[in-house]
Amino acid sequence: MKPFKYGCVVSGENFCPRPELERQLQEFAASGQNLVIQGERRMGKTSLIKHAIGGMRKMRLVYIDLYYINSLSDFCGRVMKGIAKASEEMSFLKKAVQLAFRLRPVIAVDPKDGSTTISVDTRAAAEPDSLGAVLSTLAKIAADGRTCIVFDEFQDILKIENAMAVLAEMRSVIQFQADTPYFFTGSVRNDMMSIFDNMDSPFYKSALTFTVDEIDQVAFTKFIAERFRKGDRHIENGVIAKIIDFADGVSGDVQELCEALWETTGSGAEVSSDDFSAAIELIFSRERGGYEAIVERLTNPQARLLCALAKNGGAQVYSADFAANVNMPVSTIRRVISRLEEDRLIFRRKGVYRFSNPFFREWLSRS
Ligand SMILES: Nc1ncnc2c1ncn2[C@@H]1O[C@H](COP(=O)(O)OP(=O)(O)OP(=O)(O)O)[C@@H](O)[C@H]1O
Ligand SMILES: [Mg+2]
Repeated sequence: MKPFKYGCVVSGENFCPRPELERQLQEFAASGQNLVIQGERRMGKTSLIKHAIGGMRKMRLVYIDLYYINSLSDFCGRVMKGIAKASEEMSFLKKAVQLAFRLRPVIAVDPKDGSTTISVDTRAAAEPDSLGAVLSTLAKIAADGRTCIVFDEFQDILKIENAMAVLAEMRSVIQFQADTPYFFTGSVRNDMMSIFDNMDSPFYKSALTFTVDEIDQVAFTKFIAERFRKGDRHIENGVIAKIIDFADGVSGDVQELCEALWETTGSGAEVSSDDFSAAIELIFSRERGGYEAIVERLTNPQARLLCALAKNGGAQVYSADFAANVNMPVSTIRRVISRLEEDRLIFRRKGVYRFSNPFFREWLSRS
């Protein structure tokens, strides 16, 4: 069994405890506080929420993933799916199905694993009153104050046609549910801000902001050392610090590098900085196809700027030095940067432009 996991929600022994954040989330949930949960990609938002709320005895979690939704009918289907997943209690599920009868839900048992699923009739889910039906179903099943409703990747709601009308209807239902905690999570900062910080948005200032940043370095170092030990390797804290630094402290990237280091070293090995290059080569060999596809799609100025960011870092991108280096006027740099951000290749953190994928940065810097 590999001691490191990435690219998925982690739980159990794969989850490094974050007791302070877990306690705060649990308190907010218990008091019915609505939250906007912000954090860069792969920081560990989803894992943290599932772990914290899943660990509460008196709270059930309805987890609704809106990743890449594209229509109202899709939205309604995702909500019902979230309800079905939360439904270990059959009575809860039956109640939801009764309440959402207009969507013509069908309950089925998955023959593979015995889990329950709900599917809704997509035509019924696309009718004008279907959103109201779905939202009031959610409100009613959560009325006992024991349900935390999480909308993950909430910014993707903006992909639905008439997103503002959908948000307005959601807001009109949610605002009367003082005892039900709604958590809205997202990793695309600008889009989340346009929902919660824009005065024209129905969700303007409707929830408290909660930030999920890097895992506490001392706790993460201890966790990583322990996982290497479990995987029959030894590693010094100084080497772990270098791993965390390479991955900009992003939990998922740290785990990816650890996994590659574990994979490229032998049983009983002392893992050192000398092992980095083999581990990074392994990651390149797995991801190279993706990097090349990205580069092929770039325009010439985009490619030049991205290479400069990879080689020189993203701290002073509007300086005269950087402009001279890429041989572009600052106005062009602005336009190109904004496009690269839109394509989610880079993002801004603490005033510095960083790569969404630090391994892609490393690969580009060597090209
Ligand atoms: N508490 C943790 N302990 C150890 N590793 C973690 C922890 N939280 C997250 N990770 C690592 O980060 C990866 C991504 O976690 P998760 O999906 O929860 O993050 P996210 O912020 O929701 O990401 P995304 O923005 O892509 O949805 C996990 O697969 C795991 O490798
Ligand atoms: Mg997530």
